[in-house]
Amino acid sequence: MRLFPFFSSLGLLLVMIISNGLDSPEPRLRSVANFPVGVAVSPQRLAQTDYAQTVGSEFSSLTAENVMKPQYIWAAEREYDFSAGDSVVAFAENHSQQIHGHTLVWHMMKPTWLRNTIESYDSATLENLLRDYIQSVVKHYQGKVISWDVVNEAIASEGNGMRNSFYHQKLGDDYVARCHQYAREADPDALLFYNDYDVVANPEKLKTILAMVDDFQARNIPIDGIGLQMHIGLDFSLDQFQHALEEVSSRNLKVHLSEVDIRANPDGKSDGLTEEAAQKQRELMADIVRIYSQLPEKNKFAITFWGLRDSDSWLTQHTGHSQWPLPFDENYGKKPMYQGFLEGLEGNQTKLD
Ligand code: XIL
Repeated sequence: MRLFPFFSSLGLLLVMIISNGLDSPEPRLRSVANFPVGVAVSPQRLAQTDYAQTVGSEFSSLTAENVMKPQYIWAAEREYDFSAGDSVVAFAENHSQQIHGHTLVWHMMKPTWLRNTIESYDSATLENLLRDYIQSVVKHYQGKVISWDVVNEAIASEGNGMRNSFYHQKLGDDYVARCHQYAREADPDALLFYNDYDVVANPEKLKTILAMVDDFQARNIPIDGIGLQMHIGLDFSLDQFQHALEEVSSRNLKVHLSEVDIRANPDGKSDGLTEEAAQKQRELMADIVRIYSQLPEKNKFAITFWGLRDSDSWLTQHTGHSQWPLPFDENYGKKPMYQGFLEGLEGNQTKLD
């Protein structure tokens, strides 16, 4: 008899837990957006339970933050190490996620052996090596990686022409086009992107990229989309953003917001994310998602965050300060920026489920 109150309150508690779970399931980015929502990940972090759980439940697309770059894959001349990249693929397969490949060619993060030898190669030798690299990697991931950043950041920072990289010096002005052709030959189904930073903020850079795209399209060089990296600050111009999206989509290309992070500590003086900055991030995130959502379906590729938690961000090292630029805090708590993403979706799309 004395046990009865205990069991009845236990029962009540169970009913409350179950009905609460049924009444108000927490929205997940991957199920409320009608375009893929991605995140850049590392195999080390995916091995941590809480991290893996959040990545698996919230996101429908993954980019390897580093391990599909030449520095990790390109072990030696015509020798490739796919082990770390493969582990990201395995995770994605287990969680029904697509993978965007990043990146086949980049002037940064080359393997040490290549940095040491690149100057000694003649043009033909380097071209053959690079072609074999691109085709081996794309073929290895055929059917697993649906899209690639073929060449990353080939345009000069100032935006007024090609970056003066070793690739450009040795292979000439048209090397980006040939890299696209090599990738297409290796996997006719993989979507091919050109990816760069400050495309929205720097009108000169946008112009140069659009001229390159126009030239590719006139010559039938394959290109399916543009990756706008979106390493941005709170001063980001929505007018320029809208303009860039219009220019890219009017060329029948897909738009990938490929590396989103929003710096909240530009002068490095804050020792914590202020409520004011957090709310500004929220509003900016909402505006970005709202404008992106209004693109025609065929032009939307994905929005990908460049990391999961503030504490995972590359910007801490890159800028020398915490920037709190991502949708989750270090304890996997959803920040106002996460809510902003949901707000940007509201009323702008038909839901997936
Ligand atoms: C960054 C990674 O986040 C860092 O971990 C790494 O040390 C350097 O590269 N543009 C790109 C990304 O295209 O590949 C860069 O990623 C960030 C800038």
